[in-house]
Amino acid sequence: MTTKRETWRSHWGMIVAMIGTAIGLGNIWRFPYLCGKYGGASFLIPYVVLLFGIAIFAMMCEWVLGRHTKREPLGAFDKIKFPFGRDIGAWGVIGPFFLYSYYIVITSWVIFFVFASLEGLYFGKDTEAYFSSFLGSKWIFVVHFIAVCITSGILAMGVQKGIERACKIMIPTLFVLLIIVAIRSVTLPGAAEGIEFYMRPRWEGLLNVETWIAALGQVFFTLSLGMGAMLLYGSYMKDEWGIPMNALTVTLGNTSASILAGFAIFPAAFALGFGAVIGGAKSIGLTFFVLPKVFEVMPGGHIFGGIFFVLLAFGAISSAISIQEPAIAWLKEEASWTRREAALFTGIILWIMGLPFILNGFVQGGIGAKLALLSKMDIIIGQLAIPVFGILAIIAVGYFMGNRGFDEMNKNARVKLSHTWIKFWIRAIVPVFIGLLFMLTLIRVLQDNGIIPRVIPSAKDIEFTSIGITPMTVFMTIFICVIFWGGFIYFTVKVLTIERDKRRRVKRGLHHSR
Ligand code: ALA
Repeated sequence: MTTKRETWRSHWGMIVAMIGTAIGLGNIWRFPYLCGKYGGASFLIPYVVLLFGIAIFAMMCEWVLGRHTKREPLGAFDKIKFPFGRDIGAWGVIGPFFLYSYYIVITSWVIFFVFASLEGLYFGKDTEAYFSSFLGSKWIFVVHFIAVCITSGILAMGVQKGIERACKIMIPTLFVLLIIVAIRSVTLPGAAEGIEFYMRPRWEGLLNVETWIAALGQVFFTLSLGMGAMLLYGSYMKDEWGIPMNALTVTLGNTSASILAGFAIFPAAFALGFGAVIGGAKSIGLTFFVLPKVFEVMPGGHIFGGIFFVLLAFGAISSAISIQEPAIAWLKEEASWTRREAALFTGIILWIMGLPFILNGFVQGGIGAKLALLSKMDIIIGQLAIPVFGILAIIAVGYFMGNRGFDEMNKNARVKLSHTWIKFWIRAIVPVFIGLLFMLTLIRVLQDNGIIPRVIPSAKDIEFTSIGITPMTVFMTIFICVIFWGGFIYFTVKVLTIERDKRRRVKRGLHHSR
């Protein structure tokens, strides 16, 4: 017996689910941290170039592969007869497990910090020492278990009733909460310096190869590319939804959240006297020991801290479910398991896989030692494995599917992409660019671990001295906000209107034919 394959129920549901997989820790923790490290807007420039020049095309290729084959990653590569398709596709099912195993551990910290903020548990304490002691406490086991149960529970309910319904609640709420925290942050006295730090390009960052490497890693991570998730979510898309404009809407929506996160964090941190920590070596701990300090001294900090961690938890959970889903889809479609069995089984395996990262928190030493395993895994999976799988999906569409792939991309699209142009871009430019930056990432990882001599100079922390709000800062702020927030609202309304008009035409057609 073959059961009908699941799809998204509504166009709006598909958009929030896609944005749900994209928005996560990558937007609210990683993006501001990288902006801080690589010179504010000088990180934004390569990020925007790579987002629109490379990543959006990589995302469209994953959707094409998924929707055309209507299969999970393993089945998709196999169906188009890609060489070693089943082995390569297996990475799209197994790889996300490794990503999830540590991603959910960070998600569980976030869940703990919701309660810690509301209760003010870290108020008046050394937040770094507090975070370190939390890593070695029994609470980490409790919140980790809760986090795995939440994602497995949502997934057990299915694509429409679980993923789509959860994202319809979580993603709009996340945006509303993020706007509330951002408004609170930019209206604090002294917030202007934080806006200057965030939006004034410091050009030495732009000329640094490391900034570009970090930006490539970030665009892949933030759009959930190379993780099997976008490919699978693409396979749940209906044929009547055009790919290019929806890809643009999802890309803009995802980055709108990142931009907002920066406005929620930098102005408050500077206004409340923590600016010096933001760009420095400790900025990686921004979320768990810098922001708690900010919330401690912020008027209404309990509530704003609680809200901030709730929105971060929503983002993280909506991404984590998309990373767990490829294995569930595979077990369901290829091994004929029920969705509930697959959700339970993957939940147990993933819970076990998270334990080494948790146990690492019990070693003696500083935060660096307690997070050593997690950081290593993030480099292997987040920086190296993801771009490789991402490039394979591009090669599969660009070279193996040929015109079938480009036709799928343009199927039922209001604005069609020129075949000649898109072929050239996807076959030549996108893989070469990713390949080049991947090689640079590999060199950097090998040299950082002392395996090869230093070739790429290490990036120095970029100095920040306030010079006040300059015309350049004003221009960047307006430009970025208009492009992303304006663009996101415009294209969301546009794709939904196109959909509504199509439905009306079909209804009218049916009416006339009666
Ligand atoms: N795209 C997800 C994130 O940014 C994985 O957290």
